[in-house]
Order: sequence, then structure tokens, then C-alpha cells
Amino acid sequence: MSTESRIRCPKLRQRIMSARDAAALIPSGVNVGMSGFTGAGYPKAVPGALAEHIRAAQARDENFRISVWTGASTAPELDGALAEVNGIQMRLPYQSDPLCRQKINDGHMEYMDIHLSHVAQHAWSGFYGKLDIAVIEVVGVTEDGRLIPSSSVGNNKTWIDQADKVILEVNHGQSAGLEGMHDIYYGTALPPRRKPIPLTRPEERFGEKYLICPPEKIIAVVETNAPDRNSRFSPPDENSQRIANHLLDFFSREVEAKRLPPELLPLQSGVGNIANAVMAGLNEGPFNNMTAFTEVLQDGMLAMLKSGKLAKASATAFSLSPEANEELANNIDFYRDRIVLRSQEISNHPEVIRRLGVIALNGMIEADIYGNVNSTHVMASRIMNGIGGSGDFARNGYLSVFMTPSTAKGGTISTIVPMVSHVDHTEHDVQIVVTEQGLADLRGLPPRQRALNIIENCAHPDFRPQLRDYFERACNSKRGMHTPHLLNEALSWHHRYEAFGQM
Ligand code: COA
Repeated sequence: MSTESRIRCPKLRQRIMSARDAAALIPSGVNVGMSGFTGAGYPKAVPGALAEHIRAAQARDENFRISVWTGASTAPELDGALAEVNGIQMRLPYQSDPLCRQKINDGHMEYMDIHLSHVAQHAWSGFYGKLDIAVIEVVGVTEDGRLIPSSSVGNNKTWIDQADKVILEVNHGQSAGLEGMHDIYYGTALPPRRKPIPLTRPEERFGEKYLICPPEKIIAVVETNAPDRNSRFSPPDENSQRIANHLLDFFSREVEAKRLPPELLPLQSGVGNIANAVMAGLNEGPFNNMTAFTEVLQDGMLAMLKSGKLAKASATAFSLSPEANEELANNIDFYRDRIVLRSQEISNHPEVIRRLGVIALNGMIEADIYGNVNSTHVMASRIMNGIGGSGDFARNGYLSVFMTPSTAKGGTISTIVPMVSHVDHTEHDVQIVVTEQGLADLRGLPPRQRALNIIENCAHPDFRPQLRDYFERACNSKRGMHTPHLLNEALSWHHRYEAFGQM
């Protein structure tokens, strides 16, 4: 498609420049809000050009660093490129880039891991400082200067509102048919002016199809033609399939007990291969006419929309393989009727999640015997990715499910431990724990019964005797029978792994 058809506003065509020239407009020390969520809709060219500027500045012995705020994770062209030149002072609110992770864990990059529903309102309140520049990927610009959002919405509305200056990347590689899929709500506000979010079904629309930006803020327009990260998912392995089967059986029992309707409740599906495998299981399962109210729409949900098992889906971003992305582009009219992409302050809004009664399905790193969950840290101190939206959904969902294989690193680590080495979701927010071994339904159970349930249903048989032994000795210690623990041993499993390579 031509420049004229993508950038339909003549005034903005006059601001077209190279990524290099646009990046030169970003000085050191600023806060930059970038588009991007789970590897979709992030700027493809300006961050790399900025990394080159930073490298050149460093060669002149100048210190050049910026802070980067996004929707969620991006890709090597953004997080990777800037991390490689040590160009990021502070990063928020979620990342999954290996280089970024390394810099954070080495202490070379500050990282603030924030509930995704909180980011916009914290930015409005100025907790992160002033937002200087926004760099936003869009699909195009309308005749009157409205912006057609890309494959993710994330915090773009907030970044555009809050930033002094905006750089647009118009990506010819994104399907022009995305126009009309978005619903950007401009009615959110801080208390006491806050009003109820008018959403009672996942597919409802109550906002604008476009992002609004005063044209005088737009200092540069850069044309790109590049795909999203589009990572492939591994085909479901035996463990993921067993986890999916346990969940499907559980849902069937809940429908039978009339605690869930036959079409279930709106689904939220977390990131990664297990979540994708669960969607594949649901696509083969007995439930029809399902809906989704989620952050990320991965391959599994796209396949469910295609098969008709999933009727409608609301999200803030896609996260698709190259094949699924092609399927989306080739059948964009079909999917536009069924998918709404929203700002993440709405896709993750606690009020809406609670009202809809979302079934929250998220991965985890480890759970302890009482049901506290660690989603973010390896051995207490090293960040993996971040909490993302898991807390928004776990705390407010109708059902809060956490899933993981029962062991990690070739069986040397038990993902069920006496005490988690970091807490993201407390026992009060965790209702169902599932591993390939089985499912623990913790609803209505006091702590000691939760422990027995988790140990007997979820722990790997190789670690079960050790866990039983810990629990029995903790009970016998008579230190306190509500949540029995042995203080000198609670974290000894992690310590043992670090010292000897085996829990
Ligand atoms: N201790 C140490 N390492 C562990 C571990 C444990 N208990 N459990 C898993 N790991 C390691 C795995 O070995 C793997 O390492 P590798 O990449 O070196 O192979 C890595 O963690 C990822 O594990 P995997 O089993 O592939 O899980 P996943 O892709 O399903 O991701 C989370 C699991 C927790 C990292 C992921 O779900 C996440 O980031 N969650 C937080 C954000 C979130 O929930 N968002 C949802 C809303 S979008």
C-alpha cells in the first residue's frame, strides 16, 4: 500500500523522516513511552536507530540512557537493542527479553514490575515522573489525523496523552484491515471523578475506533514494513496436555455441579506454551459458545475463534506465530467481527474482571504447600519476566487457576515447595493449582487441608515424601497450628538447589 493510503492526513505526510533522524530527536535522560505488548505493535525502527545514537555517544565517552515505559514485553528490536548498549536506565512494567533480564539481574538496569491495570493511572498521577516522548506504532492515519492502532493497544492512549512529543511509526507490514477492530475508551479518570466502566459482555464496544493525538504533538512520522515478533509456540508436550486434561475435567465437573454455565465464563489465558496448550485442549473439548476477556490473544484462541468454539474475544494485544498471523491477515473481516482490542487499563480492569466473572488461567514458577504463588522470581532474587496481568486477573477473577509442570530443570527443582521464595499471589488469591500430576481445588479449605491437597495432588512423586515429612514435622513442632512451618527449613529447598544443584 502507498504512503498516501496509509498516511491519509496530508499534514502528517510532511513530517515523514528516517528512523535515524527521528531517533536523533530523543535526548539522553528522558522518559519514553513506547507502544508494544507481548511482542506485538512495538516500534520496529526508531529503538534500533536510537541504540546506534547511544553507541555513538558512548564512543565519545558520553553517558546516554533513557527510561522505557511500555504496555508489556516487546522484542529484540526494542528491548534487546537498547539493553545491548546499556541504554535503559529504568524499565517498566513487564519484559521478557533475555538481554533485559540479564541486565536487570546484573544490576545494570532498574526495573519496576507493576500490575498492568495500574500503569496508566500511576502515570497520570506522575509516580514515574514526566513522560517526555511517546514512540507509537500505528497501522495508519485517517484523513483528519486520527491514528489507526496496531496489533496491540497497551498503554498507547496514555502515552500519547501524557507525552510532550509523539513519534509515530506507520507499519505497512501490519494488516490495514485491523482498522475498526479497536475500542479506545476515553472515559477513564482518577477518583473522585471515576465512573463505572460500561462493560457487561466481553464483546461490547463503548469507545472510539481510533487513538486521538493533537497533530502539533507529532514531531516525526517514520514508515516501516516489518512483522511483529511472531514467536512460534512449541507443540503441546505431554505435561501441557495432561495439565489441559485436568482442567477440562474440572470444568466439566463444575458445569455438572451448576457452578459454571455450559459455555463456561469468559476466559483469560496467560502467556506461554502451557496456556496455549490449554486453549488447544478447550478447542477439542465439550464446551461451545465460549468467550474470552483476556490481555493476550495467542494462536490457541485464534484457532478457537476459527472453529467457532469461541464466539467473541476481548484483548489488548495479539501474540501470534507467523502462521497464525497470516491466518489473521487473510481472514481479517471474520476476525474483526469477533475480536475487540482495548487499552490495557480496560482489558485488565479489576471492576470489569470481577463483574464478568473471568476464569483466570496463568502460569507460575512455583507454589507453596499453602497455595502462595511465585510468578516472577527464580530462587528469590532473579527476575524472570514480571507479574504482567496475572495479579489483576487472579485477585478479581471468578476462578483463579495457576498452572506449571511439577518439576523444572530436568527434575532437579520441585515447583511445589514448603515456602515460595517470592510471593506474587497470596494464598487468598489462589483457588486452583494444576500440574501434570493433578489438580488441587483449594476453595473452601483451611490452610492445613490446602497443604495436604496440594502435596497429594500436585507435587511430583519424587518430592512428595519430602514434602509430607516437612509438613508433618512442621505440625508436630507445635510452633503454631494455623499455617505450620519450620522457620529454619522453609527456604532450605532453594538453598539446597543453589548449593548442590538439586532440591
Ligand atoms: N525454578 C527455577 N526455574 C524455573 C522454575 C522454578 N520453580 N519453574 C520454571 N522455571 C524455568 C524453566 O526451566 C524455564 O527456563 P528456561 O527458559 O531456561 O528453559 C522458564 O522458567 C520458563 O518456564 P516454562 O515452564 O517454560 O513456563 P512458561 O513459559 O509457561 O512461563 C512463567 C512461566 C511463570 C515464567 C510465565 O507464565 C510468566 O512470565 N508469568 C508471569 C506473567 C503472567 O502470568 N502473565 C499473565 C497475563 S498475560
